[in-house]
Amino acid sequence: MQILKSISALRSTLAAARKKNKTIGFVPTMGAFHEGHLSLMRACRKQNDIVVVSIFVNPTQFGAGEDFTSYPRDKKNDCLLAKKENLDIIFYPSEKSIYPDRTLTYIDVDKIAGTLCGASRPGHFRGVATVVGKLLNIVAPDTLYLGQKDAQQCAVIQQMVRDLNFPVKVKILPTKREPDGLAISSRNKYLSAQQRREAPVLYQSLCLAKKAIRNRQKSSTKINLLIQKTISKKSSGKVDYIACVDANTLQPLKTIKGKTLITLAVRFGRTRLIDNIIVTDV
Ligand code: PAJ
Repeated sequence: MQILKSISALRSTLAAARKKNKTIGFVPTMGAFHEGHLSLMRACRKQNDIVVVSIFVNPTQFGAGEDFTSYPRDKKNDCLLAKKENLDIIFYPSEKSIYPDRTLTYIDVDKIAGTLCGASRPGHFRGVATVVGKLLNIVAPDTLYLGQKDAQQCAVIQQMVRDLNFPVKVKILPTKREPDGLAISSRNKYLSAQQRREAPVLYQSLCLAKKAIRNRQKSSTKINLLIQKTISKKSSGKVDYIACVDANTLQPLKTIKGKTLITLAVRFGRTRLIDNIIVTDV
């Protein structure tokens, strides 16, 4: 496994692989690897000749007062975990190489970046789209791997790939969960013991919503209310948003139909957790 810091070293290594007709799979991350990240790497390993994983805590996707400086960074442990997954390359760029002085170009994805998480984290998806756009230009993979856990991120990146003609296939893999259902996240470690006990209510409420939809509840207002009540009854979590939206366009649905994304964000103290499920109405 190679750990490459420079863009030019990465480009020349990958150009040589491409010449030999090797396929390249890419998993962008911010490090602090957990089972969610590892599941993407495993899928990528199975489906490609060369696996590239980037580790870059991207400053432009954190708002003022968010956890950029305290975001967990553990390069040594990440490299150990990555080695076990038999990766080929870890790309570990410096902030200066990704954002040289006088960076003036950013990627804004209209409409779908400003709702849901984008409403409470202004500029977040501009930062995500910009860094993923840059990384796609640097790595030029055949396939990009993303996690369903960050559903809005997936929608924003898929839209960007379509709109800007990036020649890459996007694969979205299911959310990895703790045994009690809590979606695995680097931010779970910020939770107190009590908050950690309460946090599985997010997934429980989504499962109840799915069950209600299966039992023909099609009103998104009623579904939202069911989720809201479940969360407030069983936890101290404060709901940021709960929404039933079209899974592709992220536009709100009054009536549940087709492929619906039920998505939510809840604050436990200063920690904001997100989760979602997709329900297909038949
Ligand atoms: P990060 O939070 O490190 O996540 C990297 C990838 O792992 C993302 O595609 C994310 O959706 C996926 N992931 C996280 N938790 C997961 C889980 N429990 N199950 C399955 N997949 C999971 O997302 C980012 O980094 C950044 O925004 C990035 C795309 C790298 C741009 O900076």
